[in-house]
Amino acid sequence: MTPSATAAPAATTQVLKVVNEFYESNPFPGFNPGKYETRRDLVARASWYGKMIDAEIPYGASVIDVGCGTGQLPCFLALKDRRVMGVDYSQHSLDLARTLASRLALKNVEFRRVNILDWDMPPRAFDYVFCNGVLHHTSDPYKGFQNLVAITKPGGFVVVGLYNRYGRLMLLIRRRIVRLLSLFDRKAKDRAIKKQLVELEDDEEKRRTWFADQYEHPHESTHTVAEVLRWFDDNGLDYVSSFPKIELFGAEPKRMFKPRHVAQWRSNPVAHLLVQLTWILTQNAGGGYYVLVGRKRP
Ligand SMILES: C[S@@+](CC[C@H](N)C(=O)[O-])C[C@H]1O[C@@H](n2cnc3c(N)ncnc32)[C@H](O)[C@@H]1O
Repeated sequence: MTPSATAAPAATTQVLKVVNEFYESNPFPGFNPGKYETRRDLVARASWYGKMIDAEIPYGASVIDVGCGTGQLPCFLALKDRRVMGVDYSQHSLDLARTLASRLALKNVEFRRVNILDWDMPPRAFDYVFCNGVLHHTSDPYKGFQNLVAITKPGGFVVVGLYNRYGRLMLLIRRRIVRLLSLFDRKAKDRAIKKQLVELEDDEEKRRTWFADQYEHPHESTHTVAEVLRWFDDNGLDYVSSFPKIELFGAEPKRMFKPRHVAQWRSNPVAHLLVQLTWILTQNAGGGYYVLVGRKRP
């Protein structure tokens, strides 16, 4: 399961290299080890997203977090009796993840170094496959997606978090403004960190890596809802849910793995486009990040 050394096109190798260098310097999401000393700390600092997943995934399930970064999510999910794996290409991130797991004495979580585009993970092995914020930092997001589907059991779930083409527009504008201001004002970056990330918990290391991830990343792509739903269709997945919702009107879903059933007029390509246009304004704080959940057909 180690990264393969087989020949890859130069662009692919180059993207992997610059992205990896970035994450070796900015392990994500990063954390201050002093704030994660006990299992209780991990629970207290879990995101709403982690808590929602935790409430829905049954005991005994096999779970993988692909591109797990510094490993808080897999460690959190391993607090319950599940078989959890976290994989990533960044050695520094994995070192932090392993340190966290061993500090919390978690025996049911394992971390491995792999490249999502070139791996030999076992097919149809996992009930729940998460890939949050990773594919858009690779040279071939669609190939990465196909690899996720391959390791999912029939009837299992695939969760992908990506930057949206519309939702990310404002962030891209802000990024340019901050870069421009930084030419004249050395403190512009510090102010942007404070201003944009006030809602982040009081962890300086997390704030720094969030800023780098959003404003200084060397490689990212953006993806529309229509594009990802096409990936689902072409690879035998049924759409289950999304965060934020891709349907017109109605409340945000409260459950991740419960299929959304809404009237066709609320969920079709035109409805999805209209919703994404609203994301230009409503999703810019999160950089246009969204999550789509699919279920592999049995
Ligand atoms: C933005 S971070 C997301 C971390 C975590 N999933 C989260 O949501 O907090 C992206 C992660 O993807 C990893 N990554 C990027 N390209 C990868 C690849 N080709 N194979 C495996 N991991 C990769 C990076 O090392 C990094 O840890």
